[in-house]
Amino acid sequence: MSEKTPYELLGGEPAVRELCKAFYGYMDRSEDAHELRDMHKEDLSAIEQKLFEYLSGWLGGPSLYYERTGTVCLSDAHKPYPIGAKERDQWLLCMDHALGEIGASDDVRAMLKEPFFHIADFVTNKA
Ligand code: HEM
Repeated sequence: MSEKTPYELLGGEPAVRELCKAFYGYMDRSEDAHELRDMHKEDLSAIEQKLFEYLSGWLGGPSLYYERTGTVCLSDAHKPYPIGAKERDQWLLCMDHALGEIGASDDVRAMLKEPFFHIADFVTNKA
């Protein structure tokens, strides 16, 4: 039996790149995510590449982020930024929107909903 990874179900590398582009594109223009946007640098290209590398491995594809950094733990990287429920929910909103924009199926979206919540909740570092 061959079970597909979420990475494969989404459409592999091009789809995961599109997802990250859509994620930061939405963050950049949505009034509903402006606190999250304000935490980021003016130029989002470097972070878009980093998120792509991270999600590639997290979704079951090549472990690009781990190969480059030697870790998959995101706590240290987020320590400089105060992240509460509001920022977490804005992150999740952008991801949900991005999944819709790239045409991810309802099945994949349902499959990823809880894991995305958990990882976003994990980097939350203020009450
Ligand atoms: C929960 C709310 C979150 C907030 C507010 C947040 C915010 C940020 C900010 C401000 C940065 C620095 C950006 C820069 O260098 O310009 C960052 C880095 C990063 N974030 Fe998040 N983030 C959140 C959740 C997540 C989640 C859930 C993931 C992965 C699924 C993620 C993956 C990353 C990665 C890979 C980096 C780059 C780390 C590095 O420098 O190696 N973030 N995040």
